[in-house]
Amino acid sequence: MKKLVIALMLVTFAATAAFAVDSVTYENKKGNITFDHKKHAEMGCDKCHEGTPAKIDVKGMKPGHALCKDCHSNTDKAMAKCDYCHKK
Ligand code: HEC
Ligand code: HEC
Ligand code: HEC
Repeated sequence: MKKLVIALMLVTFAATAAFAVDSVTYENKKGNITFDHKKHAEMGCDKCHEGTPAKIDVKGMKPGHALCKDCHSNTDKAMAKCDYCHKK
């Protein structure tokens, strides 16, 4: 029983530790973007991640806009304005 409890604690710890990025900033010419991963994650991991969540490469306009801008456009047009994400 004691062993099981420790095992469960380790699993819980690993899950929290894996969630390393609370917020990440992408620097680019159009204006830096600060992505609040923690806040977005409340919408559910599968909104962005397929299978086991791992790093997603959104560098560059194509992958960045495909993931981020598509959902924003579909949610509220004001959220798809350039300066909603790109801050000078
Ligand atoms: C709105 C999209 C989105 C949602 C929702 C989301 N993620 Fe992520 N996640 C990302 C992006 C983008 C990255 C890459 C960040 C970077 O550039 O380092 C990432 C990276 C990660 C990584 C890679 C390791 C790390 O910390 O960089 C893990 C693990 C992860 N997410 C777990 C989760 C979990 C667990 C959930 C749900 C509770 C979740 N994510 C929800 C977009 C999302
Ligand atoms: C599945 C839909 C979805 C995806 C995918 C998504 N977002 Fe969002 N995003 C939202 C919603 C909904 C809000 C509004 C949250 C609120 O105001 O409570 C938001 C808010 C934001 C904000 C406003 C500031 C903040 O953090 O509250 C920024 C900046 C942002 N998102 C950037 C991004 C970037 C960059 C990506 C891609 C890595 C991304 N979003 C992917 C739905 C999404
Ligand atoms: C929902 C968030 C979001 C919105 C809205 C958005 N972008 Fe982006 N954009 C991104 C992300 C994420 C990247 C990729 C991150 C990176 O490469 O630094 C990106 C990358 C770019 C790049 C490539 C920059 C480089 O140095 O490679 C350009 C140019 C760009 N966006 C222009 C625009 C324009 C113009 C608009 C308005 C019409 C806009 N973006 C609206 C999230 C957004």
